[in-house]
Amino acid sequence: MTIIDSTSVAAATIGDSPYLQMIGGEWCPALGGARFFVDNPATAALLTHVPDGGADDARAAIDAAATALPGWAATPAPQRAALLRHVAALMRERQERLATIMTLEQGKPLAESRGEIAYAASFFTWFAGEAERIYGQTIPSNAANKRLLVLRQPIGVVALITPWNFPTAMLARKLGAALAAGCTAICKPAEQTPLSALELGKLFVEAGAPPGVVNILTCQNPVPFSETIFADERVRKVSFTGSTEVGRLLIHSSATTIKRLSLELGGNAPFLVFDDADLDAAVVGAMASKFRNAGQTCVCANRFFVQRGIYERFAQNFAAQVRGLTVGNGLEPGIGIGPLIDAVAVEKVQHHVREATSGGAQVLVGGDASPLGGRFWTPTILTGVDSRMLVAREETFGPVAPLIPFDSEDDALRMANDTSYGLAAYVYTRDVGRVFRVAEGLEYGIIGVNDGMPSIAQAPFGGVKQSGMGREGGPHGIDEYLEVKYISLGLT
Ligand code: SIN
Repeated sequence: MTIIDSTSVAAATIGDSPYLQMIGGEWCPALGGARFFVDNPATAALLTHVPDGGADDARAAIDAAATALPGWAATPAPQRAALLRHVAALMRERQERLATIMTLEQGKPLAESRGEIAYAASFFTWFAGEAERIYGQTIPSNAANKRLLVLRQPIGVVALITPWNFPTAMLARKLGAALAAGCTAICKPAEQTPLSALELGKLFVEAGAPPGVVNILTCQNPVPFSETIFADERVRKVSFTGSTEVGRLLIHSSATTIKRLSLELGGNAPFLVFDDADLDAAVVGAMASKFRNAGQTCVCANRFFVQRGIYERFAQNFAAQVRGLTVGNGLEPGIGIGPLIDAVAVEKVQHHVREATSGGAQVLVGGDASPLGGRFWTPTILTGVDSRMLVAREETFGPVAPLIPFDSEDDALRMANDTSYGLAAYVYTRDVGRVFRVAEGLEYGIIGVNDGMPSIAQAPFGGVKQSGMGREGGPHGIDEYLEVKYISLGLT
């Protein structure tokens, strides 16, 4: 495998001027002057460096967002929508550059990065439409001389904390809704992937976003940022995508100033294949759900429950597809699996696989780090997995598919729901009655029925149980950024 010299690609795509953070419409260094490096997970080469902001930078961003709020909240909805549409158009126009930068800092195959840019742009387009549909209500009163009115108004300044696995789409899903609602935003991308967010910031400037409406802060240590954001009463809402562990801490932090939270946290998605399923469709769905972004998605199938009558055929067909995946640097053509984000991710995958195999699971495909070394892991299928193994209890967040057979619909539902998580679940069956029984019985926020890729801008995305609270995208996504105000009007 040829490893492309990522530093020369980086120089060609990223350019010579250093990245700065965006506060109040200005590109600025961190107030303390510090910077940190961003690396390429495929090669471990350093790509560039970005400002390492601290509490003072977070305060400056809050000041800027609070100053911009009245003007943006009062901007007519069609104008807010126009800004979002303009940014979406620029993203589509610059897709190749944005995708290349994403692959450089995140590692996913270039085709997936291109797909993510299109997916991200679709959130801005969707929320542009939603901005124009923020309807109020009138409610019949019990008194002839009273009128009851309901308004929906922007919640205020919001902080958006985004993950490294979808560095542009997760930001767009939050920021599109926030700006459509009339909120101003402070965005904090993950320290592993700040470049995609800063690139998006450039498009907002180009599209004419008023200063302070979008602020983007980069920092290596998220703690001073979080403490400042949560302590400040002017920040009315925090939206976070990341681990359940951090989500739990944010719930505690939000108590002091009673902030509204949206949390999109971890998952442990079951993928159910019934005897009557369309086998080919189930394998296609399994590949998409499990191996997108090398298994580093919150919605990716973590446990495959396969009914005994179809188990062997599913395992063999799935294995044939998995063996065909090419692991490597996502900038090269034909790569299906890029590197994992960092060494910690590789250690977790290794630990899960070792624990399963030492407990009796068998390796059908892969089972080890890739011969390429570094952060690459060979896509893996395990059979003979027991639901008490780590690989079935915890989110592996890597390219590992454990298969577990089941006998009845009740068994499948019981095993699928036997987890504290409830983000996404997948069901493959051609029995309409079963579709409803199982979909209704699954304790999850998103159910893909004969669909391995249910995520889409038009639908509400979010989990139940310890997978979080709130919904992003769809008609529900904008509600998270709106307050309901009731006016009782006495007719005099
Ligand atoms: C995620 O992993 O949280 C997001 C994936 C998606 O939007 O499909």
